[in-house]
Amino acid sequence: MTCNGTFAKGWVRDWLSPAIMAGMNASVPVLTIDGPSGSGKGTVSRLVAARLGWHYLDSGALYRAVGIAAGWSDIDLSDASALVRCAFDTDIAFRDDGSGELRVIVNGTDATDELRTETAGAAASAIAAIPEVRAALKERQRAFRKPPGLVADGRDMGTVIFPDAPYKVFLTASAEERAERRYKQLKEKGVSVTMDSLLREILARDARDASRAVAPLRPASDAVLIDTTGLPVEAVVARVLDLVSRPTA
Ligand code: DC
Repeated sequence: MTCNGTFAKGWVRDWLSPAIMAGMNASVPVLTIDGPSGSGKGTVSRLVAARLGWHYLDSGALYRAVGIAAGWSDIDLSDASALVRCAFDTDIAFRDDGSGELRVIVNGTDATDELRTETAGAAASAIAAIPEVRAALKERQRAFRKPPGLVADGRDMGTVIFPDAPYKVFLTASAEERAERRYKQLKEKGVSVTMDSLLREILARDARDASRAVAPLRPASDAVLIDTTGLPVEAVVARVLDLVSRPTA
């Protein structure tokens, strides 16, 4: 059984066509926005993409989707080869629900809410440390590069997936502020957590993402660093848009 609930092997087709498309789209501008969880990159990336009228790639959602699809198929997070298969054959689609929020459809099921849970985040972080899973998702991510442009949000957008991107940003914020932002989000959703446990989780996730052997979280050498601690979202958006409006070398 594959991760999309079928016995078919559509992954060769799914893998090849994005690879061909990605080659054709090398001239399409890309803005990469990398950073740790809670740095504000999701919110900033979505707003910047909307203002520019560019496409948006939430690469973390791909890792989360593979993680939950694996869970649905009772695949153990230590079973690397089954997880790689999942990375190839999980159907992942993004749909605009009209309110500006992107719904994520995993194997035909709207999994948007499940994707945002801490469990999905922890599974994504664990499978993201497997080099073959990252390789399997590479061309799928590059296929998002379509005219008129792409805003790509993640951890290795500027270093590995789109190293030739003309615009690169790396967002940071203090761990305390990131935990506080997450706390507010979860509280709004009625989820009860403590600041202490969130801070511990954030620090553990940072350490795992930054210390893994493959594509560790780090800024590209040509990325512009923006510390968002204490900055309102609009101020960060303005700085990023300013960067894109400047002529490139
Ligand atoms: O951005 P996020 O919280 O949705 O990401 C979930 C996990 O996926 C995170 O722990 C790191 C991993 N990830 C990654 O390794 N590379 C990416 N480009 C995006 C996410």
